[in-house]
Amino acid sequence: MNGLDPADLPLERKAALLTGGDFWSTAADEEAGLKPVVLSDGPHGIRRQADTSDHLGINPSLPATCFPPAVAVGSSWDRQVAAQVATAVAREARALGADVVLGPGVNIKRTPLCGRNFEYYSEDPHLSGVLGSAYVRALQAEGVGASVKHFAVNNQETERMRISADVDERTLREIYLSAFERVVTEASPATVMCSYNKINGVYASENHWLLTEVLREEWGFTGLVVSDWGAVSDRVAALAAGTDLEMPGASSSVQEVVDAVRSGRLPEAVVDAAARRGAALGRYARRSNRNPVLSEEEIEAGHAVARQVAAECAVLLRNEHAVLPIARTSRVAVIGEFAVLPSYQGGGSSHINPTLLDTALNTIRSHAEGQVDYAPGYYRDGSGAPAQLRAEAVEIAAAADVAVVFAGIVRESEGFDREHIDLPADQVELIQAVAAAAPRTVVVLSNGGVVSLEGWHDEVDAILEGWLLGQAGGAALADLLYGVVNPSGHLAETIPLRLQDTPAYLNFPGEQGHVRYGEGVMVGYRHYVTAERDVRYPFGHGLSYTTFTTTDLTVTATGPDTAQLNVTVTNTGPRTGKHVVQVYVATTAGPVRRPARELRAFEKVELSPGETRTITLDLDRRAFAYWDVLEGRWVVAPGDYTVQIGHSVTEIVAEQAVTLAGESLVAELSMQSTVGDWFDHPVVGAQFTELLHSVMGAPASEQSDHVEDGMKMARGMTLHQFAGFLPAALPADRLDELIKMSRATS
Ligand code: BGC
Repeated sequence: MNGLDPADLPLERKAALLTGGDFWSTAADEEAGLKPVVLSDGPHGIRRQADTSDHLGINPSLPATCFPPAVAVGSSWDRQVAAQVATAVAREARALGADVVLGPGVNIKRTPLCGRNFEYYSEDPHLSGVLGSAYVRALQAEGVGASVKHFAVNNQETERMRISADVDERTLREIYLSAFERVVTEASPATVMCSYNKINGVYASENHWLLTEVLREEWGFTGLVVSDWGAVSDRVAALAAGTDLEMPGASSSVQEVVDAVRSGRLPEAVVDAAARRGAALGRYARRSNRNPVLSEEEIEAGHAVARQVAAECAVLLRNEHAVLPIARTSRVAVIGEFAVLPSYQGGGSSHINPTLLDTALNTIRSHAEGQVDYAPGYYRDGSGAPAQLRAEAVEIAAAADVAVVFAGIVRESEGFDREHIDLPADQVELIQAVAAAAPRTVVVLSNGGVVSLEGWHDEVDAILEGWLLGQAGGAALADLLYGVVNPSGHLAETIPLRLQDTPAYLNFPGEQGHVRYGEGVMVGYRHYVTAERDVRYPFGHGLSYTTFTTTDLTVTATGPDTAQLNVTVTNTGPRTGKHVVQVYVATTAGPVRRPARELRAFEKVELSPGETRTITLDLDRRAFAYWDVLEGRWVVAPGDYTVQIGHSVTEIVAEQAVTLAGESLVAELSMQSTVGDWFDHPVVGAQFTELLHSVMGAPASEQSDHVEDGMKMARGMTLHQFAGFLPAALPADRLDELIKMSRATS
């Protein structure tokens, strides 16, 4: 910028900086020394388009490593994995001439039907926020900017461009904004991308409360707000609300901004601030690589990272009779076309053109010493005769020691939601037929959104949930099946028994322009554990080829609203493995309905056989807080909090209570306070009871039940209403005194 303040540029040139220069770049101003900044999708690889551009993943992009998408990284429960992906993506971004990567996506998986769940980490904001934050820090440490998205409350694809997500503020704060808050406050992303949808009736791009009051004023965000591609409907309103940069942008909007300033509708200071932020993003700009291709070494290095991290993400759901890992000498029947044509990423703007593609079958063949047979069982494109394909599969399954069926979802994409959570019917029939014929059956799943395991779960011996694992996922799955790597993934989302059990079922996808978040904070496991609903596999579940024990939990308060815990974990099994210490907090403290327990901390540790480690974790005040809508801030209520260690959200293996002083909120009393509020007031309550008795007289003992019921009824009335029913007036001066006393204590 040559030390020049962009605010000093003529209005037209400042306004021109606030809209895209082309589909993927910010506008340049050569004279002012401002270079274009290239933004590129991701975030599980680089989708750098050299020719025709689009944001739907239709036109080709340059080859780049396809790392495991967020659905997989979420299941790793490992900051290190999120960071490793980001570091590798950043290196390819530099090689391919991308300055800012459009990700990570930290939206909450509100329903398993969201078509973009494969791009999001979890149904839990703590897990999403911690992983998103690790990704952004690692990416930006390499000099590449991040764009955390889609801010905010973009939890479905149906009508995503205009639906209004209607959500109460406590739910917004505790569930839907919380991961963004963590990423912004801990990792300072270069940009935040606002979403297409409306929030409580106002487009995210025009939402001053969201983009300015919360994001900038409360969280201290100093970076640039960029619109999702095409998310701006009124450029002037969006700029005034806090959307600095419109992408891809239209030349007409430059003129609209200029006219709005000239006519006095938009303060020039708003343009100045946005232009300064646009110029500041220039620190990420590099001279674009004119012929961007990855070298052989870069391709191999990227692929090696992709394989290693993919193996950290798959979740071993079931392993009866220790059927896994497969002995190398076993005769194996590999069934299902996914073994040779894998599902490894979803469609839409995050679609990567992979540099290489591993198949599970090839790697199984390289690990196996026994015979390996293959039958497709089904074709991805639906061709072939199902009965015949099944018969071929059953034949090889019957002759094998173990049959491994690769199943999953063929197509998932941004832009539309799923209609159900079932596997294709021909795949279910295939699994059932193979399970009936083979001595042992293993199912390996590839899916971006949760699939139902009902109808076949009990018939198979093992299930390995692979999600979408990127271009090296096939090899990683084979490594896990043969125990080259010990599985260590855990569910970042619940696998329900039925779609009808899911918390948003009755309020999805909305109607007549609105989707009501009626389940409130009871999203994902919060719903199942609070309503005590059975699920197929709970949040946090995941098996290993070794076993772990948890002992010696101690929890101590470190202040009025913070605590620290120590817990010892031991690998009690025969292999090195990774264990996730999952820390939940359960409480009923405070005036709001709390979920039965909530994830508040976690740590993944690697332990060799017999190894013991003591982990110390701090629980900050947010681990105990709820959002108080009356106070408009986070509050830790005084009371008891049970810190629980779980092998999943339902398998609690250790717990200890801690009492926190918290913060007593004593409301100021008035005639509109309820009689209950008056009775319960810690300072005024006793005097109020006395005052009441002086007016009503003490109740005769034979009437006491009657009076008790009457007083119970009265507790819900305002004092104003109640006073009208009394035999004599309450002395006004005495009431005034009590009100003043309550004010002094609040
Ligand atoms: C998606 C974003 C993406 C952008 C650019 C939009 O349609 O919602 O996630 O980054 O396109 O491709």
